[in-house]
Amino acid sequence: MIYFDNASTTAVLPSAAKAMYENMTNIIGNPSSLHTLGLRAEQAMNDARERVARAMGVNAKNIYFTSGGTEANNTAVIGTALAYKSRGMRVVTQVTEHPSVTDSFRHLEELGFDVTYLPVDEFGHINIKTLENAVDEKTVLVSIMYVNNETGAMQPIEDMVKAVKGKNKNCRFHCDCVQAFCKHKLPSNADLISVSSHKIGGPKGVGALYIADGTRVENLHFGGGQENGLRPGTENLAGIVGFGAAAEISSQNIAEKAENVSNVKAELLKLTEILPDVYVNGACDSPYILNMSFLGVRGEVLLHALEADDIYTATSSACSSKQKNKLKIVDLLNEGRGESALRFSFNADNTVEEAVCVRNAVLKHIPMLRKFQPR
Ligand SMILES: Cc1ncc(COP(=O)(O)O)c(C=O)c1O
Repeated sequence: MIYFDNASTTAVLPSAAKAMYENMTNIIGNPSSLHTLGLRAEQAMNDARERVARAMGVNAKNIYFTSGGTEANNTAVIGTALAYKSRGMRVVTQVTEHPSVTDSFRHLEELGFDVTYLPVDEFGHINIKTLENAVDEKTVLVSIMYVNNETGAMQPIEDMVKAVKGKNKNCRFHCDCVQAFCKHKLPSNADLISVSSHKIGGPKGVGALYIADGTRVENLHFGGGQENGLRPGTENLAGIVGFGAAAEISSQNIAEKAENVSNVKAELLKLTEILPDVYVNGACDSPYILNMSFLGVRGEVLLHALEADDIYTATSSACSSKQKNKLKIVDLLNEGRGESALRFSFNADNTVEEAVCVRNAVLKHIPMLRKFQPR
């Protein structure tokens, strides 16, 4: 099997699975209980918090566990906007965010906020001057992702934070780093950062939100006061422990891993030289994601042809593949290319040999599929 769909999810690392199993079989307490069993559970959770924080390069006291990247994004966008609405009801984002961000801004619109959706160019990049112009004294929040999940386009977040703060020092900046965590160094100056466990070799259904000191976020859930009241509810302890174990391992040697993955990606990029009418969609910034259109062949058809060879890819992000009427990001960048787009996404263990194998499989399928699918 060749798995090139790591932006959708990753296989759980053996050390993360082991840590979860040991936690589930040995630690029976509720982290909020006052007795020794509760304290042991709390200790396991705090160890995991330390590990995730270290991998993010932040302080553990600023980490709040959530049910995943989606909840971290919902909380960051809606919770921060609500916390500061007395200062102003203007918020800014951009058009190629993950739906967990975009739909949070749609919700803010319904609540009466004035939302600016910044455009991107054909590479998926935002003009920093356009961003700066969109911020005024009433803007309370900007949310811009670091690595785009469909195209791998990256934004210069640290420069963007500086530009935004230069315009309005009180404006908060949130960055969705779900596709960047453990792959790229995270921005050091964002006020809020979202990450997710299942993109880095941890279990599904757990994530974290980093909130800088001095940034207020209103809680969207109500209950027993866990996670400082921001995310009440008994914690997913085994999931959190698995997340901590995965973060510790996956955050090591990121530069070396990125170089290896660049070589994997380069093999697939050769397809643009070998086959006619093959295009790269968006900027090829992150080595971990490659989105290509093979004109004349529907992405879904190529995906299933490759699947028959035990090769796994994606036509778009896993979340938007379920939202039939959503415009694909590729179509926003290059209209007409979305239907024939296929996303290859890698992890540190993928090899050049696997890429050569996938390239040969594509070379085998495309001429035949093009014959049968009229343009
Ligand atoms: C950029 C980005 N943000 C947020 C999410 C949502 O994360 P989760 O699946 O943990 O809810 C994803 C998942 O695909 C993503 O790629």
